[in-house]
Amino acid sequence: MQMERVEGAVAFITGGASGMGLGMAQVFSRAGMRVVIADIRQDAIDAAVRRFPPANPGVFGVQLDVADRSSYVRAADAAEATFGKIHVLVNNAGVGIVGSLLTATYADWDWGMAVNLGGVINGIQTILPRIRRHGEPGHIVTTSSMSGIFAAGLAGIYTTAKYAVVGLMESLRPELEPLSIGVSAFCPGLVDTNIGDVDKLRPAEYRDSTYGSGAAERAAFMREHIFPHGMSPIEIGERVLEGIRRNDLWILTHSEYREGAQQRFDAILASFPTDPAPPERVTAEAMVVRNPLFVAELERRLARSGST
Ligand code: NAI
Repeated sequence: MQMERVEGAVAFITGGASGMGLGMAQVFSRAGMRVVIADIRQDAIDAAVRRFPPANPGVFGVQLDVADRSSYVRAADAAEATFGKIHVLVNNAGVGIVGSLLTATYADWDWGMAVNLGGVINGIQTILPRIRRHGEPGHIVTTSSMSGIFAAGLAGIYTTAKYAVVGLMESLRPELEPLSIGVSAFCPGLVDTNIGDVDKLRPAEYRDSTYGSGAAERAAFMREHIFPHGMSPIEIGERVLEGIRRNDLWILTHSEYREGAQQRFDAILASFPTDPAPPERVTAEAMVVRNPLFVAELERRLARSGST
């Protein structure tokens, strides 16, 4: 079984210095885990680490740009030098890049994909071999979004990356199951974090963009009127920890988005042709497409809710 017992385990949390990542670090730490707060901003790491009990030997901050592969290796080495092993990887760092696809530049695409998708790929490539090497139970959870379940609003680049990481987690899960490494796609709705201040994080090489115009006003509006209504990062941390313990395939936290998901899934099902497929094609397809994943997850969910 994967990570039913988390006490003493080490979690490497990217984007751990703010918002949801920090909420997870706080909750995980209270549950007896050791946490690595990995973030691109050193000042935010320092402030985050100060929020833990002084001289807490179970908290370690390290600077990391998830889009930079050598930075990732250095951060993982430093985490292992401190705690010996990494058991849980939380691919949480992300940038809330929003704007119309009609005005998107290559800089917008490259930055959004480098962090929101590339950062997750780099996390898996760097950390997964290290989890496998020690052979103890482990878990990989990636923060996608409700934007990874259905597209909404002017956030095409963000949505593209968030869909991609859901597919990545669904693909990884059956491969890691025999190795006692759980996998979850975490898809939250609105959470009270600092993600609205995204433009401050855009590196110089990705500056060729019009998305920043009006960004300060937009961020101020979001900070005052939208994000305060979001779920708290501590509640998020608790729900993610529960999802890790139960090895949920999808960790979903916001019931109000169910209808939007249902509309998409119903529309997809209604788009299938109804003419029967030739048996030879079905047989050929069955030889390459095998996926008990969703049936297993549905059975687990139904068993838990007492319906079976
Ligand atoms: P946040 O802005 O409070 O925290 C994100 C952290 O990631 C920051 O500390 C930032 O410095 C760090 N970061 C950004 N780029 C990085 C990089 N290249 N390498 C390492 N660290 C980097 O925002 P929040 O909301 O806590 O974001 C966490 C995740 O949640 C993101 O993946 C975001 O897309 C996702 N999300 C947020 C929602 C919300 O309503 N706040 C809703 C759904 C998903």
